[in-house]
Amino acid sequence: MTEHATKTEVSVSQLRCIGCGRTALPDRFRCETCRDLLEITYPGWDARGPYGLDAASLKKLWLDRRSSFKPIDQSGVWRFREILPEISEDKVITIREGNTPIYELPRCAQSAGIKYLFAKHQGMNPTGSFKDTGMTTAASFARAAGYKWVACASTGNTSASMAAYASRGGLRSLVLIPDGKISWGKLSQSLDYGAITCQLKSDFDGCVRVLNEVIERMPVYLLNSVNPYRVEGQKTAAFELLEQRGWEPPDHIIVPGGNLANSSAIGKALREMKQLGFISRVPKVSVIQAEGANPLVRSVRENGGEKLVPVHAETMATAIRIGNPASWKKALRVIRETDGTVEQVSEGEIALAKAEIGAEGVGCEPASAVTLAGLKKLVRQGFVAPNETVVLVLTGHTLKDADFTLKFHRGDLFNGTSFEAESNSLKPYQRSPLVLEPSVDAVIDLLQSAES
Ligand code: F0G
Repeated sequence: MTEHATKTEVSVSQLRCIGCGRTALPDRFRCETCRDLLEITYPGWDARGPYGLDAASLKKLWLDRRSSFKPIDQSGVWRFREILPEISEDKVITIREGNTPIYELPRCAQSAGIKYLFAKHQGMNPTGSFKDTGMTTAASFARAAGYKWVACASTGNTSASMAAYASRGGLRSLVLIPDGKISWGKLSQSLDYGAITCQLKSDFDGCVRVLNEVIERMPVYLLNSVNPYRVEGQKTAAFELLEQRGWEPPDHIIVPGGNLANSSAIGKALREMKQLGFISRVPKVSVIQAEGANPLVRSVRENGGEKLVPVHAETMATAIRIGNPASWKKALRVIRETDGTVEQVSEGEIALAKAEIGAEGVGCEPASAVTLAGLKKLVRQGFVAPNETVVLVLTGHTLKDADFTLKFHRGDLFNGTSFEAESNSLKPYQRSPLVLEPSVDAVIDLLQSAES
């Protein structure tokens, strides 16, 4: 790779079980002994740091790469390659993911009752979601390991991302998605990028069950978020966030929770940044779920996080319509380690928060808006203080689910659902399209009435 990225004893990564600590072979997803999830560790870091470099040298190296024209330097994931598993440069599949912006959200801050609110917009990735940051590492590993096929079960964003990276890397891809339960935009991406796309008459959890059996029988590499290489790529979003803030940690990071890999990745990054001396204080990481897809919230509230009882998931934020999240133990560890919390929000609260983020000229998909809705609750509860700095992780682009946005503004999003009554309070936020005669006066009248 670069002069720094040669394979040495200090750079080598290892797969370890999060439960019993046993090491595992590089292309496994669960521990052979206890079936817990695996994570990538870097045993050499303790002695000398990644590639023998200290935090100050790494900070400079990563920033310098922003002025390079090399594809792997232009990637907002691979420019951090010293803290990633080693994959040779000729196997790396990059669509220049990462390097996403942070936006200040002053009006949302006011609405939540705090002063300093920012959004790390992971929807600004090449396929429109945060999945690209993890897909570049995991798809590259698949290519390096010689796989011909990759596959995932998805609520739409993973599949869009996987399809793109597989095609770019000359791999074939299989997508299993729940029939009728993902947005058209996401489905169209997977078709456009050339995946074999199957809509199963089931939900996301059902798709996962089928796929787990398929990969047992076929030489297909799984690119769901139990894949530890995905977590490594997703972790760079937190390194980048801290870099963008001059390595000054915010007080809180708020993340939407679905399969619970993203919160795990962000927490792993914070743990590593502390270990390597990049930061001296770790922000609180809190996870927000939709009320109808709240297995982690229930687990924490009903049994102190001892076990996770799967739920039948139902929410219009289809990206996080997940009842049996695979990475719940990893996410719980992050919440505990950072003194974060969990919260749930209603369908109405999600729709309102999404409209507020849209009205800042930023926008996001419904699943991302749970972060603002959750923040409002955490401020009311006193968990977030008015003078604290908060970063919301916006996971998907607003165009991912234009149907939701149109229905919201037309006022028929909740028609025929049990949230119809709740939706009356949303009327002031709705800006439905106006149909006018093609007359100058009609447009001017409208402008004048909007001014007053
Ligand atoms: N936000 C968006 C936009 C998502 O697509 C997802 C997950 C999440 C949040 C939750 O992240 O699963 O790491 O807790 N989407 C997956 C998919 C499940 O298949 O696209 P998580």
